[in-house]
Amino acid sequence: MVRIVAGGRGALAEVRTEMLAVGLFKDDAPPPELGAAASALPSGDFSGKRGETALLYAPDGLAARRLLLVGLGERSRFGLDEVRRAAATAAKRARSLKLDEAAFALPTQEGSAARVPAAEAAAEGAALGLYRFDRHKTGEETRELSTFALVPDDAGVAEGAQTGEKIAAAALLARDLANEPSNTATPEYLAERARGISDRHGMRITVLDRATIEAEGLNGLATVGRSADNEPRFIVLEHRKGGAEDAPVVLVGKAVTFDSGGISIKPSAGMQDMKYDMCGGAAVLGAMEAVGAMDLSLNVVALVPATENLPGGDAFKPGDVLKLHSGKTVEILTTDAEGRLILADALSYARRYDPSCVIDCATLTGACHVALGDHASGLMGNDDALVEEVRRAGDAAGEKAWPLPLFEEYTEQIKGDTADLKNSGGRYGGALTAGAFLKEFAEGYPWAHLDIAGTAYDSKSRNAYTPKGATGAPARTLVEFLRGRAKAEEAAR
Ligand code: BES
Ligand code: MN
Ligand code: ZN
Repeated sequence: MVRIVAGGRGALAEVRTEMLAVGLFKDDAPPPELGAAASALPSGDFSGKRGETALLYAPDGLAARRLLLVGLGERSRFGLDEVRRAAATAAKRARSLKLDEAAFALPTQEGSAARVPAAEAAAEGAALGLYRFDRHKTGEETRELSTFALVPDDAGVAEGAQTGEKIAAAALLARDLANEPSNTATPEYLAERARGISDRHGMRITVLDRATIEAEGLNGLATVGRSADNEPRFIVLEHRKGGAEDAPVVLVGKAVTFDSGGISIKPSAGMQDMKYDMCGGAAVLGAMEAVGAMDLSLNVVALVPATENLPGGDAFKPGDVLKLHSGKTVEILTTDAEGRLILADALSYARRYDPSCVIDCATLTGACHVALGDHASGLMGNDDALVEEVRRAGDAAGEKAWPLPLFEEYTEQIKGDTADLKNSGGRYGGALTAGAFLKEFAEGYPWAHLDIAGTAYDSKSRNAYTPKGATGAPARTLVEFLRGRAKAEEAAR
């Protein structure tokens, strides 16, 4: 694991390192601090386009052995996500050069006031960009970058670097859990990893097994999980560092460790990606790791319903009717709309915590991926202010989420014939009818729902800090949201 520190005192020219990375805006002249070094570059070789790089050796007048110029793109479009990308680009280049350490000059526009968030973003970007999921590859000797120093070396930068590493850890844990194949990442495995979080950070954990899930009336989870030999789990992780009287934020994450579709089985092409159907649960557990590491003064409860969805002699079938935890009944039109059944149980279970709000995240519908593409999660809810708060958190984290409507017509579309509801609203508006279904169970508190089917994983790299596989989204959104809530509660105290 790379160590990210504040380093390099004095002027850029004096930073002693194997590689100094400096970001440049498009069509800008190199900063005067670089002296003669950057002007050695023939004009036309480097324009400062986002992601573009140029490596110079033994740069004239610099103490650094190498100078890496990294394009930041247009000055007018600069933001924290450009810092994440540039830091990731620099860290990965240093690693591919097999260096032990490298330094990164923080690009800031407004001077030192913006250094803390820039340091956070740079640390996040470097840690996220260096991520590889290679634990199942045998015999490959991989060399890791050991230190990535953010310049300048001051207290704000040091603090930002530490916070950024903790935020990145949320997404890194989410990626690790989600990339892990379903033969390893079973519901009990997720429970075991949640116990690890609880041990590290002094959280309270309760894991309900199959018998307790049934006894609690979590029938959606019990039913989806019934035919699987890897038994379902309902994971409850509680961080209680807010005021004793303060209502907790409840996070809910869908964790279908493998979604075959069940009796309504999915086509086999691409089915391997359904190991990622636990990305919502992975993001929630990742966020809890950061909440613990940052010791946020806030009450947070994580609920992760975890199960496989498999066909079998004991499997639930189309036409079946179940009574969910809330008491509402559902007619099953397709066993492939299983996520909403286990989430419905968790959402009504959440009421016992009398939450200040509930946010769920789930790889819920292919329709959401179709609607928004790869670039934004679908965002729905029953409270406009909360939806806006989540949207902003996503924006700050570089994990876009975009509001979608829950008109009552969508609720009409899922009214049941033989039961209160049906678990599918048909082909059109699939993300919205799924959201409308959840809304029936998110009663008595402000609620927001993130459909991450298009954003939680990809078969290609998304940007410099997001390699292919699980992206970790929306773990950093959740952390950003919770930080905001912790700050607000502290201010109110
Ligand atoms: N896990 C899937 C949704 C999904 C599909 C996520 C593709 C990522 C990529 C979910 O359980 C599902 O199967 N949803 C169905 C719902 C439909 C049957 C009403 C879907 O989206 O097709
Ligand atoms: Mn499904
Ligand atoms: Zn699913």
